[in-house]
Amino acid sequence: MIKAVFPGSFDPVTKGHINLIERASTAVDLLFVAVLVNPAKKTLFSIEERKNMLKEAVKHLPNVEIISFEGLLAELVKQENISFIIKGVRNLVDFESEYTQANINRLLSNGVETLLLPSDPRYSAISSTVVKEIASFNGDLDSFVPQFVVKALKNKINIK
Ligand code: PNS
Repeated sequence: MIKAVFPGSFDPVTKGHINLIERASTAVDLLFVAVLVNPAKKTLFSIEERKNMLKEAVKHLPNVEIISFEGLLAELVKQENISFIIKGVRNLVDFESEYTQANINRLLSNGVETLLLPSDPRYSAISSTVVKEIASFNGDLDSFVPQFVVKALKNKINIK
């Protein structure tokens, strides 16, 4: 059985993430979508909230499992016997950072490879950071996240 992991902060999940998860899920038997801690980011949603939104977002994908992990991605890869890490790449800035992370994660996990999926151009400008900024100004989020995430953002940010 080929298992892969699609890791991220997912604070919150966007339509860009969902498109990548749908495409990645067609390439493997089991895809873990893992909520991990990015030490560079302070999050708006708790790990449980992020997991619940992800579960709703991928409920149409039978071979996708939502998990969270506190620690190095390489440790999760070893623990679950995962064959590949799959990441999305929107632009050259993403590529630079993903290239470095892929090399570090290969060293830390005894050779596990990272596969980079180019984002669909429809979603290449979307990020969770941009989504949170638009939400804070009560802007239109319909092109960026599913309706249940719009609601969660409004509840969290306390706007109507
Ligand atoms: O969605 P993000 O914030 O770009 O995801 C980044 C993430 C969470 C995948 C990355 O920060 C990560 O792998 N964190 C776990 C800790 C780890 O393994 N760090 C070393 C990677 S080089």
